Amino acid sequence: MTTFGSLAGVAFLAAATPTVAATLSTAPFGATADGKPVSLTTMTSVHGVTVKFMSYGGTITEIITPDRQGHPANIELGFSSLRDYETKGAEGGFYFGALVGRYANRIAKGHFSLDGHDYTLAINNPPNSLHGGLKGFDKQVWDVQPGAASGQAVSAVLHLVSPDGDQGFPGKLDLSVTYTLSDDDALSIQYKATTDKDTVLNLTNHAYFNLAGAGSADGVFQQVLMVNADQYTPTDKTSIPLGHNAPVQGTAFDFRQPTAIGARLRSDDEQLIWAQGYDHNWVLNKQGDAAVPQLAARAFDPASGRTLDCLTTEPGVQIYTGNFLKGAYAGNGGVYRQTDAFTLETQHFPDSPNQPSFPTTELKLEQTFNSTTVFRFGVRK
Ligand code: GLA
Repeated sequence: MTTFGSLAGVAFLAAATPTVAATLSTAPFGATADGKPVSLTTMTSVHGVTVKFMSYGGTITEIITPDRQGHPANIELGFSSLRDYETKGAEGGFYFGALVGRYANRIAKGHFSLDGHDYTLAINNPPNSLHGGLKGFDKQVWDVQPGAASGQAVSAVLHLVSPDGDQGFPGKLDLSVTYTLSDDDALSIQYKATTDKDTVLNLTNHAYFNLAGAGSADGVFQQVLMVNADQYTPTDKTSIPLGHNAPVQGTAFDFRQPTAIGARLRSDDEQLIWAQGYDHNWVLNKQGDAAVPQLAARAFDPASGRTLDCLTTEPGVQIYTGNFLKGAYAGNGGVYRQTDAFTLETQHFPDSPNQPSFPTTELKLEQTFNSTTVFRFGVRK
């Protein structure tokens, strides 16, 4: 195992801090089918929260956190080997834990116009284009380097250059993503990108969470969710937003008060029926400085006591209940089925390049794209 020199064994000097040090190390994780070496990086916080990710797709493969008794479990769905991600993951279209781009979520009919030019993308989720096309960022091998050590946090910087025309998108994109695990057990994901031509961009991480542990018998039905959103974007039957925000008030989409994820999953709402569960974008309530991540969602598992807070600078969050997990593949926690997990895909709204009323996803030549999402892991007694 190689250890990232300056990041391993970060020393902690403050009197009240635990004696264990946060660590970050990387090791080989095989090679892609076309022969590119892939690494697995492991970050562990002072409290023993562990986040593992591979250079393939920047994919978070495991997040291990203690329950209220201190027993650790992996709470993020994935596969056991790189080959499984390349084969089963790609066939199933799961995007477990991956960095998704250039356009997370859907673009209607795989078509958009920008600066008077028409662009055509692969229709990989008929009749739409999904998650950046056939070979999106989730299927690229990223360069991984140690990040700057800061206090008791450990970090790694993932870098990718996406050439002009990649998957049909304009502009050569230079993209860095920093994964930081802090002393308060928060995983922060910071995205930064520039382009050499006007383009569109929507980035997310597609972690699937089950706070009881990946593959737990009861899935996430009883796990409680709060979403800081008064509105969501209803869709057509193909998951493309209708173009207006709808109030969550009085609907199955009202998670302003903590509510069990399964409480209304069986309700007779055409939005839920069309999507086979939750697979929708919530319009996050915002106030104050847009550059500071604000609370988007809070999840709690009454059985294990595990909690998850999600904060973001993004305007929306796509919450998905694993509707396309149909028991067809064994993952790292057993065979995964519908409602075995929930995602908190912080992002801009689906199909924004075709929806003038939505916050823009254009990235202009002279601009730098900046976005931050934080997942903070904890327990409640
Ligand atoms: C997002 C989409 C879903 C599905 C998953 C991956 O959540 O909105 O429809 O594609 O990604 O399976």
